[in-house]
Amino acid sequence: MDILFSPLRIGSLLVPNRFVRSATHDFMADDEGHVTDSHVKLYSRLAEGEVGLIVTGHAHVQPSGQASPRQMAVHDDRFIGGLARIPEAVHRFASRVVLQIAHAGRQTKEKLCGCVPVSPSAVHDPASKVMPRELSSDEIRSLVDDFVAAGLRARRAGFDGLQLHAAHGYLLSSFLSPHTNRRRDEWGGPVENRARALVEILRGLRSALGRDYPVIVKLNSTDFLEGGLTLEDAVRIAVLIESEGIDGIEVSGGMAEAGRGSVWPGLRTEDEEGYFAENAARIKQAVQVPVFALGGIRTLAVAGRIVREGRADLVSLSRPLIRDPFLVRRFREGSAARSECTSCNKCFNPRGIRCAELAEGR
Ligand SMILES: Cc1cc2nc3c(=O)[nH]c(=O)nc-3n(C[C@H](O)[C@H](O)[C@H](O)COP(=O)(O)O)c2cc1C
Ligand code: SF4
Repeated sequence: MDILFSPLRIGSLLVPNRFVRSATHDFMADDEGHVTDSHVKLYSRLAEGEVGLIVTGHAHVQPSGQASPRQMAVHDDRFIGGLARIPEAVHRFASRVVLQIAHAGRQTKEKLCGCVPVSPSAVHDPASKVMPRELSSDEIRSLVDDFVAAGLRARRAGFDGLQLHAAHGYLLSSFLSPHTNRRRDEWGGPVENRARALVEILRGLRSALGRDYPVIVKLNSTDFLEGGLTLEDAVRIAVLIESEGIDGIEVSGGMAEAGRGSVWPGLRTEDEEGYFAENAARIKQAVQVPVFALGGIRTLAVAGRIVREGRADLVSLSRPLIRDPFLVRRFREGSAARSECTSCNKCFNPRGIRCAELAEGR
């Protein structure tokens, strides 16, 4: 059997194949952050399309952590009923689904989050043009508690697990980065201190949810910024969180202010595919838990090479599954055709993600 279509255990979670739908904010929640019928349709199609593991778009754990309009919220029990509709839809098929939980940190707008955006340190963000406020120690403790409370809500809603969003310059990633975290207390300085917020959340989740509930992380492996997080830092963080009970690591990178985020445009050739796969491979050498590679994977051939060569255990895709939610099923049925996604990035549609190229008949 092709290894891409063989099952894999991620902690206690058995996923039916090695294809992951990488977290994709969909602009489909209602104005308060509740799940809508559009979500149910979106996630049903991904599961019908045989994606092994679906990671939802990021759901914010505090009102101040909202990153985008029409983003799913998980900061209150009143969202549980709506959220439960996603695993219910997915579990009609063999796919598994985890909720990505996040806080935007300084990558938001005052108008959206209803407050001065927060950050480990008051470092201006030229991308969002925000001057954030530094979090106090007490506020960091509350943040840890709110991530844990969100994790409990995810389990109550029936999700198969959680993904902590510690990538792309959002709050947990900005704790990891020496560029955005310049604190001199226990939450800043050496990499172990910068990782403390993530580790404390993980410990809190383990004590609230037990050892068996699957918790994975999306981790920045570089910020692409002078003075930012390096791959060496990321490897140390991966080893540290593995010792604290993380079940899997999805390796990403980038930060808006670096001018190089995680969603690279204009990918054309196989050589350009898997742009974070080498970083995933480096992290995989240091840990035992499953590692996910992502970034511009468009062909079955590249996906297969990444897994067969042992650079990662799973491959994650976002835009190709916006273009065609049935891509994995087509691959399984024998199609070797490249995803038709042109990486034009026109799918960021505030009225709900969709492939603009498809709508234009391309
Ligand atoms: C419309 C859109 C929304 C995204 N939303 C999220 C998100 O909520 N959380 C996240 O971690 N990454 C998010 N990403 C990044 C993707 O998960 C992925 O890492 C990136 O697009 C590279 O993979 P790809 O080349 O397969 O698209 C988003 C990407 C796109 C295109
Ligand atoms: S609009 Fe369509 S072709 Fe362009 S990046 Fe998004 S999914 Fe791919």
